Amino acid sequence: MRRGESRGTRGANRSLSSSWKSSYIGYGLVVGFVLVLLYLMVTTQFSNSPTAYLAGPATISKTKQIPAATHQENHAGREDGSREMEERYREEVARTHTEPSKGQRQEEKVESEQLREERNPIEEQLGNETNSGNWEDTHQPEKKGTIEFSEFGGGTDDFNNVANTKPICDTSFGKYDICVLDGDARAQGGAAATVTLVSPRAAPREWKIKPYSRKYLDGLKAVTVKSVPNPEDAPQCTTQLNVPAMVIELGGLTGNYWHDFTDVLIPLFIGARRFSGEVQLLVVNLLPFWVHKYRKIFSQISRHEIIDLDKDHGVVRCYPHVVVGYGSRKEFTIDPSLDDTGGGYTMVNFTEFLRHSYSLPRDRPIKLISQGTGGAAGLTRPRMMILERTNSRKLMNLPEVVTAAEAAGFEVTVAGRPRASYDEFAREVNSFDVMLGVHGAGLTNCVFLPTGAVLVQIVPYGRLENIAQTDFGDPARDMGLRYIEYGIAAEESSLMDVFGKDHPMIKDPIAVHMSGWGNVAEWYLGKQDVRVNIDRFRPILIQVLEHLR
Ligand SMILES: *[C@@H]1O[C@H](CO)[C@@H](O)[C@H](O)[C@H]1NC(C)=O
Ligand SMILES: *[C@@H]1O[C@H](CO)[C@@H](O)[C@H](O)[C@H]1NC(C)=O
Repeated sequence: MRRGESRGTRGANRSLSSSWKSSYIGYGLVVGFVLVLLYLMVTTQFSNSPTAYLAGPATISKTKQIPAATHQENHAGREDGSREMEERYREEVARTHTEPSKGQRQEEKVESEQLREERNPIEEQLGNETNSGNWEDTHQPEKKGTIEFSEFGGGTDDFNNVANTKPICDTSFGKYDICVLDGDARAQGGAAATVTLVSPRAAPREWKIKPYSRKYLDGLKAVTVKSVPNPEDAPQCTTQLNVPAMVIELGGLTGNYWHDFTDVLIPLFIGARRFSGEVQLLVVNLLPFWVHKYRKIFSQISRHEIIDLDKDHGVVRCYPHVVVGYGSRKEFTIDPSLDDTGGGYTMVNFTEFLRHSYSLPRDRPIKLISQGTGGAAGLTRPRMMILERTNSRKLMNLPEVVTAAEAAGFEVTVAGRPRASYDEFAREVNSFDVMLGVHGAGLTNCVFLPTGAVLVQIVPYGRLENIAQTDFGDPARDMGLRYIEYGIAAEESSLMDVFGKDHPMIKDPIAVHMSGWGNVAEWYLGKQDVRVNIDRFRPILIQVLEHLR
């Protein structure tokens, strides 16, 4: 039905965008340039990533002071931001390159972004991906005949005893490829990294695999994976390690805090946790500062040296088992029915793993005594962390929200920009029972909350509920958190001040979505702040307390 509307409202959309164009002229070149940057930053291929400028974790301001509204971005944030911008720009370029003709480009882009926007929450069920011709294969296994596909190292067959061997690589997923080499596997680094399986029974074959969790991104390096029948056809081993190895790639959207977890750390857990630390990581595009930031996680994933595969010259590393590639089927979560973790691991297990990695003390939040014996006003008050954003999607009346939360019985801390080390920050987050924030990458910090804690996501105006659900709502529930959503009404949005109640931006968010992802990104995500109506918000605080009883 919305597809039909799409054509019907196209004329309206044109006038919508032409009215914007005239306002662009009003704002001048500088603002136009900023908007283009915003558009590039916020546009992603499949995920409606939370596009926070607060890319890293925030610092705790212990004084409960409300910092000034305008801050300079910190160094980490800026690095992350420009990286993200660049990667997303590359993505954008990649997409336009795959489009059939220049004339169609605008329409196509609008169409595909709109499809992505609409499909995102349900794309897994539908099995349709904008950018992949392979999705259908996943859902039509009969195409593959009798061959059994194992998604993630699930194959435990002894290669030499199986007559009908399965292919090493599965490239049928839209998001990522995965290869499992069982037996005599040899990895050679350098610019043209190659992993070779020596097996008399495997047909000689070769694949080019980008071992990253979003293979469709531009700028990724490929690794050659091949099978050869004779040992003479493979390079001779110079080192032999009797544990499995995993070839993974960093880069991509790594550097955006949400993508750090969604694209790397969770897929890594899915692929490698089963080895209980007895696995060697061979990393393409190794980013040493990034690995250092998450070193506590890496050191739990693998007890062995991390190999920079790009620089691993003159060495042939041999293993009994090598997995090339990693990924997850959904965003920022594990779906045990789709992701093969090799041990039934869930997001609850992932957060337990994080608590173990960072030696975090709290597995459970506070348990409030039922009303009558003091309730929330008892000796210990539940601790609430409010995430502060300093660019887009600011909480304009933060002081009022703090006051209301304190009146409801919470001990409130406002978290600003990074100051503490990441490890200290993780510990700090774990000390809270409630996290509250406007949709954005900062909410990624909820991974450090105790199981059963409460996450409150404030969703800005403009039909962003699906994005909010996919990026944080569903993942939070999968982590065993209590999840509450507060949707911003038009009256609570700064866009109301900008456009007025009769503008399509306020009156008809669906038409805005139809007019393209760029408009959603620029305005609803990029140029909106929120002013929470405290009377409307108060019941949410009561709900939070109820969850903690
Ligand atoms: C999936 O895509 C195919 C071809 O692109 C289309 O025919 C089909 O209707 C789509 N399915 C759904 C559920 O959208
Ligand atoms: C995953 O977490 C659940 C709940 O805490 C626990 O019962 C289960 O044993 C964990 N699974 C693994 C494989 O550790």
